[in-house]
Amino acid sequence: MKAITVEPKKPGTARYEDFPEPDVHAGSVLVEAVAVGVCGTDVEIVEGKYGWAPPGKTRLVLGHESLGRVIDPGPNSSLKKGDLVVGIVRRPDPVPCANCAVGEWDMCRNGQYTERGIKEIHGFMSERWRIEPEYAMKVDPSLGILGVLLEPMTVITKALEQVFVVGQRAFWEPKTALVTGAGPIGLLAALRLSARDIEVHVLDRVETGLKPELVRALGATYHSGSVLDLGFSPDVIVECTGVGSVIADSIRQIGAGGIICLTGVGAGGIASLTVADNAAAVVLKNNVVVGSVNANKRHWYRAGQNLARADRKWLSRLITRREKPENFKEALERRPDDIKVVIQFSEI
Ligand code: BGC
Repeated sequence: MKAITVEPKKPGTARYEDFPEPDVHAGSVLVEAVAVGVCGTDVEIVEGKYGWAPPGKTRLVLGHESLGRVIDPGPNSSLKKGDLVVGIVRRPDPVPCANCAVGEWDMCRNGQYTERGIKEIHGFMSERWRIEPEYAMKVDPSLGILGVLLEPMTVITKALEQVFVVGQRAFWEPKTALVTGAGPIGLLAALRLSARDIEVHVLDRVETGLKPELVRALGATYHSGSVLDLGFSPDVIVECTGVGSVIADSIRQIGAGGIICLTGVGAGGIASLTVADNAAAVVLKNNVVVGSVNANKRHWYRAGQNLARADRKWLSRLITRREKPENFKEALERRPDDIKVVIQFSEI
């Protein structure tokens, strides 16, 4: 079969190549790939900045935002041939730490977790892949290709859960939420926040085009420019850019008692405040800055329900480009009008 593979930490090594059929030890469910979403993490891996091959191997099959069709459900699953499934990304560490031991692999304490297509386990950018039945999430068949949005939806389902759990530390009635960054994660955050009794604002660099349209279609308010020019202090900020100055501005602009959830992974940048200034702002306003990564099965289950309930027309506008596997390099390019680019392996 063919797969998109890379030698992690070595830029320029990604290729679409012949690759052995998936190992039976990878799971008893055999799946035909339908589509795989591309995200910033994939770009980082291809640029040689992130990623780990499986132990003893040099190359890693890329891809963690999957959608596939069951070819063979194997002996121990309730799945049927033809079911649409998405593979859970993370596996608990082998020790296991206390969080992994209770199924909270997203909160792994010792960093020895593994992740498909990212850390030590092959991903889903291959014509066929295998998965353990308990890590295969069945998706509503009426979602079709939109099932590929399940993984990003799990990330935001966890992030918002964190925000609302932290909110319970005191009397809290959030009225306004700001999402920074109108990429797939930011837009899905806006979608989920707009389902609540809360005024939703989204900020991004672009001034026109699909992003503002999608935000307005949710009944939310779109802003371009600086967080400091919003004209109000949000109760919740879901930060989806990973950009240093946006994070620093968010800390300055958040309302008293407000919660900032960081979901973006960035690097460097010029902070507009020093660390102690940031800390003082957080102290004096009782703020919580909470980081959120990955998702456990509870989030996957809820995200599946949320995706199935979402407006299909709106969701379908998030997928702005579909590329063939042989054109994966184009899929990894960031073009101005892109929101979610997917690599399509087979028809649906
Ligand atoms: C993935 C997560 C993963 C994280 C860190 C993200 O792109 O969506 O599942 O935990 O990268 O590797």
